[in-house]
This record gives sequence, C-alpha cells and structure tokens, in this order.
Amino acid sequence: MGYLGEGLILEATRLGLGTCWVGGFFRPEVAARLVGTRPSEKVVAVTPVGYAAGRWSAEEKLMTGFGRNHRRKPLAELATGLDQSYWPNWVKVALEAARLAPSAMNRQPWRFEVGKNTITVVVDNLHETYNIPKRLDCGIAMLHLELGALAAGVTGTWEFLPPLRVAMFTL
Ligand SMILES: Cc1cc2nc3c(=O)[nH]c(=O)nc-3n(C[C@H](O)[C@H](O)[C@H](O)COP(=O)(O)O)c2cc1C
Repeated sequence: MGYLGEGLILEATRLGLGTCWVGGFFRPEVAARLVGTRPSEKVVAVTPVGYAAGRWSAEEKLMTGFGRNHRRKPLAELATGLDQSYWPNWVKVALEAARLAPSAMNRQPWRFEVGKNTITVVVDNLHETYNIPKRLDCGIAMLHLELGALAAGVTGTWEFLPPLRVAMFTL
C-alpha cells in the first residue's frame, strides 16, 4: 500500500502537482463509500491531488509550521550491519533516499540492516501508533530505497519477510 501509494505521490509531484498523504483527519466512512470498498477492505489514507494555492491560510501555516516536524533521523541511527565505511555507492544513495521518505507524524519507523548485497527494511517495533500501520510507512521507504538504487544504476528484487522485518532488497 505504501509502496504503490508513494508511486502515485511521486508521479504527481513529477507532474508539478501538490499532494499530501493523509492518514487522519478524513472521514473513513465517506472515503469507503466513494471508493466502493468491499467488506474486507479499508481506506487507510487519502491524498488531495491538485495545484496548491500560492499563499497559505493561517491554519495551514499553523499546521505546517508548528504542527509538523520535517527533520529526518541520521543514517547512523537507522542502519545496522555492514559498517558505513564499506558501503558501496548504491547503498549510500538508496539509504539516503529511503531516509527522506515521508511517514505518519514523521515517526520514521524504518530501520535498515545492510548486508553485502542486501538491504533489509525492518520496523522499529510492533507498537502501532496513530492507527496507521508502520508497515505502510516502511512500504513508502521501500520505494524510495529502490528508486535511489536505480538512480545509482542498480536494480534488485524484493522478498517480503515476517515482522519485525518487512522486506529484503537483493541485488
Ligand atoms: C501514511 C502517512 C499519513 C500521513 N497523514 C497525515 C495527516 O493526516 N495529516 C497531515 O497533515 N500530514 C500527514 N502526513 C504527512 C506527514 O506528517 C509528513 O510526511 C511528515 O511529518 C514529514 O514531513 P515532510 O514530509 O513534509 O518533511 C502523513 C504521511 C504519511 C506517510
């Protein structure tokens, strides 16, 4: 969900459109009705897509200025395994792209285990917060990681793994 959703977000951004992942502050029953969900399905997040107003309202300034923290954790805090001094260029670029991914309330629940030809995305813990699965955030980071690797000239494959692990990217 996060991986595919972020694909839409990035593509909209490429087209010059504004977006924002919204996991709270929308009415799930209205979204479900609009989408026509089946009984086993749930709308976990939505995004507006469009041209952002040039000027922000006072409420928007308040939400983005005070309510939001744009800081990202350093890789030293997120990555384990192979020492950073041995990372090939593709690992550096892929992890830098993954580190910058958006997450609900900027919680950045992803951790990265770096192997010789692999990066495993791991969730920090199973304590869910804000009623939005952390694995969704990790899916977003997976796409960023994969695109970072691609930008560094590397393609790989994903294997899904059971919690706390999420998935392993292998060259
Ligand atoms: C799954 C998900 C849900 C989010 N839900 C909301 C939301 O309900 N309202 C909101 O203003 N931002 C929401 N965000 C945006 C995050 O708050 C934002 O990405 C994070 O604070 C980092 O800020 P930045 O991406 O602007 O640097 C959400 C992001 C994700 C990935």
